[in-house]
Amino acid sequence: MIELPLRVEPLGPHHDRASFSSGEPSLDEYIRRFAGQDTRLNLTRCFVLVHEDEPQRILGYYTLSAASVVPRKAPGKLAKVRRYPEIGALLLGRFAIDRRFQGRGLGRKLLLHVLFHVAALGEEAGFALLLVDPLDEEAEAFYRKFGFAPLPGERRMYLLLKDLRATLTAFERG
Ligand SMILES: CC(C)(COP(=O)(O)OP(=O)(O)OC[C@H]1O[C@@H](n2cnc3c(N)ncnc32)[C@H](O)[C@@H]1OP(=O)(O)O)[C@@H](O)C(=O)NCCC(=O)NCCS
Repeated sequence: MIELPLRVEPLGPHHDRASFSSGEPSLDEYIRRFAGQDTRLNLTRCFVLVHEDEPQRILGYYTLSAASVVPRKAPGKLAKVRRYPEIGALLLGRFAIDRRFQGRGLGRKLLLHVLFHVAALGEEAGFALLLVDPLDEEAEAFYRKFGFAPLPGERRMYLLLKDLRATLTAFERG
């Protein structure tokens, strides 16, 4: 989904975290202050979107962490699962595009990249959903475009892994 000259790579010491500004203070503070330490503690993995001409500049970023949902809060057939006390999931914990680059299709490109990434991880370990916590109604509307829906009775949203591939195919077809 991400084509050169753009690329996605793990957050590293050469990336300029201080100048990243999404307009959402909690997301800016997270990449500046906490993403490095959370990565070292293996709590999360943080990936950044960069342009090859200016690879230190962060155009956008996302984090992925392991998560779970108890069956009674899970959607559809998963609510009937009894063999596992918790259903494995991945959490798209943070997702943001720098405000200077918003509204140009980068959020869409980066989210499709996330879905590819998660689909590939889903071949290596079993988990049933991708979760996200939208910050506000606008973010919720953004995620809905990609097939996410709220977990029953919650603000947290999910995309079933089985539907994730369908979403990718639909977006690939345009
Ligand atoms: C939300 C955000 C990631 C979107 O990135 P972007 O690069 O501006 O989005 P794009 O230009 O790729 O737009 C993709 C689609 O989402 C829609 N969209 C963009 N921003 C949106 C918003 N705030 N609310 C609802 N829809 C939005 C666009 O209209 C577009 O729809 P289309 O494909 O049907 O035309 C970006 O605005 C951002 O980082 N905001 C601040 C942080 C934030 O809210 N993060 C998500 C919270 S968890």
